[in-house]
This record gives sequence, C-alpha cells and structure tokens, in this order.
Amino acid sequence: MSEYKNPRDLWFTYDIVAEDPTTHARAGVLHTPHGDVPTPIFMPVGTKATVKGILPRQLEELGTKILLANTYHLANRPGADLVAEMGGLHDFMQWHGPILTDSGGFQVFSHGDFTKLTDDGVTFRTVDYDGTYVHWTPETNMDIAQKLGADIVMQLDQCPGYPSPRSFVERAVDLSSMWAERCCKAHTREDQALFGIVQGGMHLDLRLRSLERLESMGDFPGYGIGGYSVGEDHETMFETLAPLASEYMPEGKPRYLMGVGNPTTLVRGVSCGVDMFDCVLPTRTARMGTAFSSEGRLNFKNACHKRDHRPIDPECGCPVCTGGYTRAYIHHLVKQREMVGSILLSLHNVYYLLDLMRRARQAIIEGRYGAFLSDWMGSPAAGDY
Ligand code: GUN
Ligand code: ZN
Repeated sequence: MSEYKNPRDLWFTYDIVAEDPTTHARAGVLHTPHGDVPTPIFMPVGTKATVKGILPRQLEELGTKILLANTYHLANRPGADLVAEMGGLHDFMQWHGPILTDSGGFQVFSHGDFTKLTDDGVTFRTVDYDGTYVHWTPETNMDIAQKLGADIVMQLDQCPGYPSPRSFVERAVDLSSMWAERCCKAHTREDQALFGIVQGGMHLDLRLRSLERLESMGDFPGYGIGGYSVGEDHETMFETLAPLASEYMPEGKPRYLMGVGNPTTLVRGVSCGVDMFDCVLPTRTARMGTAFSSEGRLNFKNACHKRDHRPIDPECGCPVCTGGYTRAYIHHLVKQREMVGSILLSLHNVYYLLDLMRRARQAIIEGRYGAFLSDWMGSPAAGDY
C-alpha cells in the first residue's frame, strides 16, 4: 500500500547525534526548510522582525542559526497581511535562515491590559499599540502565523503567572490543550512545523497531564515548555522542569524552554535534556549597559572601567572582544548613551549565549557534559543567575 507522506515530516526531522553518559543532555540537528539547526541552541529574539541593534548579516557572523519573532507584535504592526504581501517574514527582514514565531500566548497575558478568556479564545487590548480590542482564537492565530511564514510556529496557549491557584493553572492546561487541538486542525502549511506547548505551572502532575494530552493528538514535531520564568525562583522551576524534560518528554522530539535565557539556566537546562532556548536578556541587558562575561555580569556604567584597556571578556571570541574595543571605550559610550554602546554590548551578549551552547554541544558530543556543568557551576560566571 502506498502511503502519503506529508512533506512536513520529510523536512522537520530531528536527529539526535549524541547523548551525554552522565546527564540527560543531548546534541542534535533540527532540519527546517531554511536550514539545519544544531542543538542545544540559543535563539536570539527579534520581536518585531529585528533583533534590536543587530543586522541579519551580523547575526550570521555571530553564529546565529535560528531567530525568534513574535506574532503578537507583528500582528499589531505592521500586520500579518502586509508581511505576507512583502513575501513573508524571511524576505521582509532579510534573514534567510530558520525563524520561529511565538504565538503571542505569553504576550497577551503579560502585556494585555484587559484579557477576557473564554473557551473560544482571548480578547485583549493592545496597550503597546493603539489600544484597540482584538479577539484571537486558535484559528485566527494560526492564520496570522501562516501568513508570517516562519519555519516553526507555536500553538496559542494560556500562560498563568506565579503564584496562581492550582485550579487556575488546571484550567490553563485544559484550555491550552483544547487550543492545541484547534491549532492542529487550522494549521495546514506544509513548509511550517507547529509545536505544542506544555503548561501546568509548578505542578508536575498538571505538566504531565498537559504533555499527555498533546501527545494524544498525534505527532507534534516538537514541544515548547511554557509557563516558566513567570515570577518563581530558579530552584522552584527546576523542581518540575528537571523531571519533566529528563524523564517524560518524548525522546526524539526537540524540547524548547520558552523565554528562559540567563547563562546558568541554559547550562542547567541542557543537563535536563532541553534543546532550545530564547530570551530577550542578552539584548535587553546590553541596552542597560551590562555584559555577560566569564567573570560574571559587568555593569559598564561603573567607573571601574574608565581606564581599563581590556576587552569586555578576554576569553570571548566575539567581533567586539577581538576587535580592539576596550572596556574604557564601552564605558564612555554607555555613559554618553551612544547607540554604538548598546550595539557593541548586544553583539557580545548574543555571541556569549550562542558560544555557550556551542561549547555545551561539543562537551555533549565528547561525553563530558557532567564536567562542563560542574565547572560552570563553580565559575564566577555562574553568578549570573
Ligand atoms: N514565552 C515564555 N513563556 C511562554 C509561554 O508559556 N507561552 C508562550 N506562548 N510563550 C512563552
Ligand atoms: Zn565578546
């Protein structure tokens, strides 16, 4: 019997190339229509179809393999129809590598001034834009995502804050599961992969229920882990994240921890079996004048850098640290609020997380991730939490 194979299943394959012997870390390659993504990977965030301060060719030079953009913001401005008319997100922003768009499930609940939630969908006021009321359903959300045309799109979900009553989190799991099913039905683009999102807050049983429901819908090509970094401390997050990722999530599918991006969480997340991360942290903190470094976080507003000849981080191979720019110069730019100060720090910070995941991947391939993790936790850089 001949069997029809969805082209999506041919494009979006995930190969695990190595498993670390002493942790749950794994190294893989995620194949997408716009290129291969080695995992574990950090995805720089280009919310409005731009990573703030960095050009696409610079992103490429830093080693970026996949970018994140946001449905919530792009649907408001310039609008999904306009992006489609301009040839889709890749052409519009001139980034021709893989792109992932988040559904906006998170932004609606964190930025939304007013949100009315029903089984059908969510109504919110776009406080960041013109203040009009918008109603999103899983179907309209998928329509937007398909018009934007990213390689990977996330389901519409509800992300509860922390702390929330258990009954509220339980309802978010039910609603997100129901929406996942509707997203699946509404999503038809064959050159685009739809990921489900596991919710369930800090309750492992609810997380497992959420995962089970997603798995029962068939075969998602990957799974987001949402609902973290919503006000809980790191240990609270790992209490449920560690067993979820290391023991329960399907082996052969990419696992994407959403919106979590400080260096130590990345290193620990990888040891639990997380494959993908995204966060605004490197570019946002850069604009505030701070840099990640092997010595821990550096604040360039601080006068201690005034006469310092060294690069931001002597151990860093980024274009800024190897390009002759001194701490003294960056301190000056930051103090004068010069754009280039933010740009140089953004380049360095994004490179830092990309390189951290490259080194992690190499350690996994060489079967020494346990040592990589303990070296990291004992280093001054681990204080970046
Ligand atoms: N980004 C960070 N957390 C979340 C989440 O729970 N859901 C979605 N859609 N995006 C996120
Ligand atoms: Zn650097």
